[in-house]
Amino acid sequence: MLASHWKTAGKIACSLAAATVLISQSHSQDASQQLDVTAELFDCITQMAKSASGSFFVDNILGDQDATQAAADSETGASYPPGSVVSLIPTEVMVKHNPGWNPETNDWEFIELNVSEAGSEINVRGTTEVVNQFGGNCFDCHKLARPEWDLICGSDHGCAPLPITRETIIGIQNSDPRCVREDA
Ligand code: HEC
Repeated sequence: MLASHWKTAGKIACSLAAATVLISQSHSQDASQQLDVTAELFDCITQMAKSASGSFFVDNILGDQDATQAAADSETGASYPPGSVVSLIPTEVMVKHNPGWNPETNDWEFIELNVSEAGSEINVRGTTEVVNQFGGNCFDCHKLARPEWDLICGSDHGCAPLPITRETIIGIQNSDPRCVREDA
């Protein structure tokens, strides 16, 4: 009797502790599932692999390029593997952390870079709160992609289209200053 009473008390204490952790972590991530992502990982966009649609570029910082490429090339949607790096324009990158890192963003981190001939610097990084240099919240736009697309907008996954033409996007990709570095 006494033992079961203490078990119940223990369970309540445990759930309270869990609830407190959840509340205090509502804007942070599970550090144990976080990949080590530093600015040095990001370089010339056009040296990354192209998605089958031809619109964006992909890589994988864990060496799992094939799985990332398969997800990017899927015609029906796919969940990207951990380590995936996706980029449409040099200054904006999405990186996939390990499962459970941040369920709300499907474990994607949104990153805005400053890029120059000297390389990349991380300007802003995070999850649902990241706002780009144009005042747009990455997640607010990308969450409109239908669930099977894993927050990847593409040109027909449900996101509102960007107000720039494909030619402009290709022009921005081809003028990435990191691609003309002498040591690149
Ligand atoms: C105004 C809405 C909007 C905002 C804000 C926005 N994006 Fe996007 N993003 C899009 C759309 C739409 C596309 C697809 C464009 C295309 O290929 O025609 C896209 C494409 C991308 C891609 C290529 C993969 C894909 O989803 O097609 C990446 C990576 C990306 N954005 C990252 C970011 C990051 C990081 C931020 C914030 C720093 C950001 N975006 C902010 C709408 C947005």
